[in-house]
Amino acid sequence: MTTRRLVLSRSAAIVGAASTGLLLPQIVRAQSNRIRVGFMLPYTGTYAALGVAIENGVRMAISEKGGKLGGREIEWFKVDDESEPAKGVENANRLVQRDKVDVLIGTVHSGVQMGIQKVARESGVLSIIPNAGVHAATRALCAPNVFRTSFTNSQPTLALGKPMFDKGIKRAVWITHKYAAGDEAFEGFRDSFTKAGGTVVKELGLPFPQVEFQALLTEIASIKPDAVACFFAGGAAAKFMRDYAAAGLKDRIPLWGSGFLTEGVLDAAGPAAEGVMTTLHYSDSLDTPRNRQFRTAYATNFKMQPDVYSVQGYDAGQLLVQGVAAVKGDIAAKQALYKAMESAVIDSPRGKWSMSKAHNPVQDMYLRVVEKKENKVLGIAAKALADSGAGCKMA
Ligand code: PHB
Repeated sequence: MTTRRLVLSRSAAIVGAASTGLLLPQIVRAQSNRIRVGFMLPYTGTYAALGVAIENGVRMAISEKGGKLGGREIEWFKVDDESEPAKGVENANRLVQRDKVDVLIGTVHSGVQMGIQKVARESGVLSIIPNAGVHAATRALCAPNVFRTSFTNSQPTLALGKPMFDKGIKRAVWITHKYAAGDEAFEGFRDSFTKAGGTVVKELGLPFPQVEFQALLTEIASIKPDAVACFFAGGAAAKFMRDYAAAGLKDRIPLWGSGFLTEGVLDAAGPAAEGVMTTLHYSDSLDTPRNRQFRTAYATNFKMQPDVYSVQGYDAGQLLVQGVAAVKGDIAAKQALYKAMESAVIDSPRGKWSMSKAHNPVQDMYLRVVEKKENKVLGIAAKALADSGAGCKMA
């Protein structure tokens, strides 16, 4: 039977039952009672694994609390945003206008996030950002209905400059994918490294999602800096580390980065990742009961190791559980819902964190090194680091 005919014959059955007064009100109530949760994430392309990790994390946090939100069942929706900024608004509207979601969870890529932000501001739909760090989302374009459970792009790199300088690095080259995430990560690196006393001798970049690094690696070899610092993530990060090692640079010029460089890619990067130093708001090896319990549960559920993206998704799920519980499932009670989300303390595998006024995590940044295929924590590089939230005026 075709889908259409199936639908028609089902509705005929429902109408039949309804005429007896038995079924229809129940079905309508059951459907409208569900909370509609939409994922807008990359499921293809360089960031595909990041999308999967986030969705896994969200689902795990909610299922640990009984699989409901404020006592209500959940209906799930999904859109693959392909990390394609040009389709950002259209894809967000698929969830908001077509699927009428109550909450939109997305996304990874900063350029795509700008599309979601526009739709979130115009529609007022509750929006939780489980990764994309674009400054504007919690600065000039902040909004009462938008909450981020990840970071701003300059947060991890604001913690990077000092440990590099303290290791004796005076001249560094910066390299990145050229788009908001890389450019804003550079701001954090430039500010912290120059403040510590270092000099950025060259900024290099290539368009997202290109991965032809060869010419840039040749340039790095000729500049001979004390170290390289970078922003790359996902599949591109694994390839960058492999190419960096294959070009013979790994043992001559230490590689540092915003910690996304070594998240979720340690198998793919292999020995090329060993010894790479990074700063990030999470580390596999955080030796706390909370992190150990999270890692064991995640590995058991999904047959893979969690990474920072899983943690950010997990915390998006926790935030949603807490917020909707506070309004007993009445997601239309916006003021009370937002208040509960603003004041939530998230008991995260990364360590407890709370929201800044602009709705971005205030959190510790860890200094890490890759050792035996693990991001090993060396210490706290910045304590309770808050983004400036510059220009944020909540309506
Ligand atoms: C971003 O585009 O904001 C972005 C993407 C991947 C990351 C971090 C930031 O790992």
